[in-house]
Amino acid sequence: MVVANSVFAPIEKDLLSLNQNLQNMIGARHPVLYAAAEHLFTAGGKRLRPAIVLLCAQTLAKSSGISAPQRRLAEITEIIHTASLVHDDVLDECSTRRGIKTVHNVFTTKIAILAGDFLFAQSSWYLANLENLQVVKVISKVITDFAEGEVRQGFTRFDLQFSIEEYIGKSFYKTGSLIAASCQGAVMLNFADKNIANGFYMYGRYIGLAFQIIDDILDVVASSNDLGKPAGSDLSQGNLTAPVLFSIPEDYQITQLINKEFSDIRDIDNALQIIRQGCGIQQAKDLAAEYLQAAIDCLEVIDNSKSTESLKKLTLYILERVN
Ligand code: IPE
Ligand code: IPE
Ligand code: MG
Ligand code: MG
Repeated sequence: MVVANSVFAPIEKDLLSLNQNLQNMIGARHPVLYAAAEHLFTAGGKRLRPAIVLLCAQTLAKSSGISAPQRRLAEITEIIHTASLVHDDVLDECSTRRGIKTVHNVFTTKIAILAGDFLFAQSSWYLANLENLQVVKVISKVITDFAEGEVRQGFTRFDLQFSIEEYIGKSFYKTGSLIAASCQGAVMLNFADKNIANGFYMYGRYIGLAFQIIDDILDVVASSNDLGKPAGSDLSQGNLTAPVLFSIPEDYQITQLINKEFSDIRDIDNALQIIRQGCGIQQAKDLAAEYLQAAIDCLEVIDNSKSTESLKKLTLYILERVN
């Protein structure tokens, strides 16, 4: 947590006002829609995506500081992310999120779909109001990418042919795309040239891939209490993530358990135990560390500063989550 404190310190105040703004930005007229959409905002979350946007914005801000459109972009990214979580929890049949019940668990699946759509629509409206067509183009693509990622995942459940390359491809659509586009959007609002904008896009892409790998490791090794969402749920859903894919060649029992789709009540615990004891987790961590190094290398497009140091330190924060 020491790293987390020092990474977020330069933007601590900005994150506080972001939290207040998020709730004001949701303007649903119907109380049910409002309550459903607001539900996850009040529960918190790490606010990683807006933090990254604010840090990227700072790198090029010079004396003028982070601009109003950049702050708005940070808020938009959190709204888009939250919308994707509302839909993801329906697909993953997940009962808790951010330490509280998921939207479909409190209300209904129909309300959760509408609430997710509503949040996506709200984010689009705020995005359009930035009045920057290039940024609108970059960010709006992300919403299509979520659907691509979720569908890819849905069609490969319990599929032992699913490769690590396909897993990375899917993870880009689900997680990398939003972070990449947010980083690019943040510096585009500073009129960054193409080379810098691309560098920041790639930084976000690598950060996103590493973050998803670490989230997938946590699903295997952490407790539901610590995560604020059910642990072990990827495997039981047949979602074969990096630590699982690396463990399959190590122990044939995992293949057998996946083949029978964990039909016995003890199968999931057995599989998780085998994975926890093998080398798959370390291999997944190593892959995440490689992506984080690649992210750091992308920052060479701009001169070193306090802000670039924060973006570099952020990679430690991501890796530290599993240490
Ligand atoms: C969860 O994201 C979904 C993934 C992409 C792994 P976060 O772990 O950032 O969720 P919150 O916002 O902190 O709840
Ligand atoms: C990330 O995947 C979800 C989205 C980007 C929508 P996960 O399914 O792993 O996220 P969690 O674990 O439910 O937070
Ligand atoms: Mg999920
Ligand atoms: Mg997960």
